[in-house]
Amino acid sequence: MTARQKIFWLRQATLFGLCLPVLYLAWRWVFDELGPRPVVDATHITGDWAVTFLLLSLALTPARSIFDWMMVIQIRRRIGVAAALYALLHFLIYVIDQKWNLIVVVTEIVKRFYLTIGFTALLALVALAITSTDGWQKRLRRNWKRLHWLIYPTAVLALLHFFIQSKVNVGEATMAAGLFTWLMIWRLMPERLRTRFLGLALLAVGATLATLVFEVAWYGLVNHVDPMRILAANIDPDLAPRPALKVLAASVAVIVLVAARHLLKVANRLWTKRYSQSTIPTS
Ligand code: HEM
Repeated sequence: MTARQKIFWLRQATLFGLCLPVLYLAWRWVFDELGPRPVVDATHITGDWAVTFLLLSLALTPARSIFDWMMVIQIRRRIGVAAALYALLHFLIYVIDQKWNLIVVVTEIVKRFYLTIGFTALLALVALAITSTDGWQKRLRRNWKRLHWLIYPTAVLALLHFFIQSKVNVGEATMAAGLFTWLMIWRLMPERLRTRFLGLALLAVGATLATLVFEVAWYGLVNHVDPMRILAANIDPDLAPRPALKVLAASVAVIVLVAARHLLKVANRLWTKRYSQSTIPTS
């Protein structure tokens, strides 16, 4: 298969994968499988996917460097656009939940801080999706990079919205914030460390500790829970896996994949050498 064909199929597969959550949601909605409050469930599901795709789009640059996988950059734009579309759908479902009463929607967005930041994140995501095309890239030139840098504060707002609306259980939001921290530390790290085992190991430790700090700080500041109780929960096997452990597992998975890739490369080189030695006559 040529490189062009590979890119074509990668793009098609990505498009299919990006449509799956909304198709599955539509299926569950139509066949009444969403539980007693379908609109609330649909709001949660679309919000979760918007954050997932947002983080995934940010993960592709590190993936390209760490796994030396150039092609992956070809799907970054559509994953970012999918994040914006899922966020729009999430907003639309919220509007439906308010019986299309736009006055109530606007009042709520102005009145409730978590909706105000959600709305700000939504506007930014839509603006970034619209200007993600080649045409806009050419039109905006150097300013395009500056504009698209907005994705980082936008992700912070989306995560804060996630935390605040999660109320008593911030487990998923904490994990998302931990993964986002991994991505941010990677970008801030010296370039020579970004693809080395040492760098990835430091990253694993840093992101895991940051996740623990987010959990302790949120429960401490918002719910007034004693930090020692949160720390104890993190070593209690009955309460596992906590968000910090999940972030550690994801970070270790990256290291294992890099190691496997290195081993495969070495094995491949050895095999090629032996094969050429056994098939090419020496004299
Ligand atoms: C105008 C914009 C937005 C509105 C009106 C809105 C509204 C809501 C509402 C009503 C909830 C559920 C709250 C509850 O259960 O009581 C929610 C949850 C959530 N929203 Fe938004 N949101 C907006 C923008 C966003 C954006 C831009 C993102 C992400 C990119 C996002 C991600 C989430 C997530 C992850 C959840 C939690 C889902 C879960 O608990 O599983 N929202 N939002």
